[in-house]
Amino acid sequence: MQDISSSLKSAGKTIGFIPTMGFLHEGHLSLVKRSKELCDATIVSIFVNPTQFSPSEDLTQYPRDIEKDNKLLLEQKVDYLFYPDADEIYPENFQTFVTVNHITKKLEGEFRPTHFKGVTTVVNILINCVMPDYAFLGQKDAQQAAVIKQMVNDLKIPVNIVVCPIVRETDGLAMSSRNVYLSKDERKDALALYKALRNANKMIDEGERRVSLIISEMMTIIEKLKSSKLKYIKIVESKSFETVEELKSSNEYYILIACKIGNTRLIDNELIKVE
Ligand code: PAF
Repeated sequence: MQDISSSLKSAGKTIGFIPTMGFLHEGHLSLVKRSKELCDATIVSIFVNPTQFSPSEDLTQYPRDIEKDNKLLLEQKVDYLFYPDADEIYPENFQTFVTVNHITKKLEGEFRPTHFKGVTTVVNILINCVMPDYAFLGQKDAQQAAVIKQMVNDLKIPVNIVVCPIVRETDGLAMSSRNVYLSKDERKDALALYKALRNANKMIDEGERRVSLIISEMMTIIEKLKSSKLKYIKIVESKSFETVEELKSSNEYYILIACKIGNTRLIDNELIKVE
């Protein structure tokens, strides 16, 4: 991979990179599209990263369809698919991990304490292999994008991180590889996450600034459903991910939800700019 990237660079080409765990959907393809707009060559990696799964999360159950993914990437005219084996990324005697402190401890990090260490380690390795000018990440995993940006800044990794908007199904459900786990009824219930976010947005548009009130309305929408088990709803400052009690003018915030619908853990969010 490094040889290929070096040749592209010697030929004066900029490289755009989309790291993925496969089972690609329109969300991933929107990142490919953005990369093709911005860069001369686009490289996608597919690697289901074992170190970001805890022992209680079933790595072997993670959905995979490499043939379909390959076909989609060919249709999109992606230049290279990087598809390493686990023992190439983590050979025997592998012993180096990258940890981002503060920002990884909250929200997703509270529920999945080892998750981000696996993400930052693998993204670092993948970036070192692909040597991209730009890496494209989805806003759907907003905290992940913030953690990766923090790592790139702190370690002075020479790559520009581009965060692209969430892609939704026509009814509003955020696209995710995990949506395949939802039964027909759960699929309907899963829409509550989007409804709660829209409701919060409306309240903010109408002038509400008290976070506790906005969150309590969101909880009512989600907790009405028998299939839902809410993990968290938080409103955080968009860069630091610090929680706030009141929204202030000219600031940007993420409203973040994590919720289990049946046995499927879903996350969703909305970036809001307060006038
Ligand atoms: O978002 C993902 O699919 C993964 O966390 C990533 C960034 C590819 C790292 O394994």
